[in-house]
Amino acid sequence: MIKRIGILTSGGDSPGMNAAIRAVTRVGLNAGLEVFGIYNGYKGMVEGYIEPLTHASVSGIVSLGGTMLGSARLPEFKDEEVRRKAVHQLQKRGIEAVVVVGGDGSYRGALSLTEMGINCIGLPGTIDNDITCTEFTIGFQTALETIVDAIDKLKDTSGSHHRCSIVEVMGNRCGDLALWAGIATGADIIITKDTGFDEQDVLDRLRDIDLIKKKRHAIVIVSEKLTDVDQLAKKISLNTGFAGRATVLGHIQRGGSATPFDRMLASQMGEKAVDLLMQGIGGQCVGIIENKIVAIPIEKALAMPAESRKPLENLFERLV
Ligand code: F6P
Repeated sequence: MIKRIGILTSGGDSPGMNAAIRAVTRVGLNAGLEVFGIYNGYKGMVEGYIEPLTHASVSGIVSLGGTMLGSARLPEFKDEEVRRKAVHQLQKRGIEAVVVVGGDGSYRGALSLTEMGINCIGLPGTIDNDITCTEFTIGFQTALETIVDAIDKLKDTSGSHHRCSIVEVMGNRCGDLALWAGIATGADIIITKDTGFDEQDVLDRLRDIDLIKKKRHAIVIVSEKLTDVDQLAKKISLNTGFAGRATVLGHIQRGGSATPFDRMLASQMGEKAVDLLMQGIGGQCVGIIENKIVAIPIEKALAMPAESRKPLENLFERLV
């Protein structure tokens, strides 16, 4: 039976990571384990920035945004030599297993560590919802709420000025934030990796919205990394009846207190991770599928194709 586990948060932070840290710590301590916080993701693991967590040290964090452990991206963790240093730091402290909260890059690190003898369990902590083995990632719902709130406000002002607001949202090549926000806010056009970007089509549609549908404003939601929204705004001003204005929501989408859903999800997933580690299981990641918390081998999860977004894309088109 294992005695000591660690927890780290890695990659872009997401609301709900603190609830996951609290759940792993409290469930672990209550089961008689010693729990260690590994600070600043894999970087802290390599550097040995590792400290014991107590009931008190995770008190009050469930409602806080960000991650109390800090986060980082460490591309060097791909190197076996770097990972060996990390394993050494863990072994020195008797830490036998680790919960990794992060995105798919973090999962690769967790799998490699498991192969090197440190059982790891991955929890999906990212606002992007781009992890295929779970219907929801920790932080997605909260980021969606932030986006919807911002777009509702943009609608007020763009309606007053006969403008088209072009809103760039995050997602790292996954269009879920754009698509869900598009449906929830009654946007006119969404542009994601799946829908593709056809500038002429966007301009034609906006002319129709202005001249035929006679709307006072228009909202275009664009997934990041697909086009330059400032340039698009200029073209909209030149080629349609709307004045274009671009808003890049940026890192505001990653902040704030997690929604109850994200706190629940993180708590349930944290519990599952500790249970798996106590059974001597590693190399798995936790997901929620059809409202059930499940565990899937990381290797299988990384190879799973993304689920089709077609039903929601169709719904969006039927609502405009
Ligand atoms: O993965 C989360 C995410 O916020 C993406 O949506 C975005 O592309 C990226 O991280 C931004 O990364 P950084 O915070 O390093 O600029």
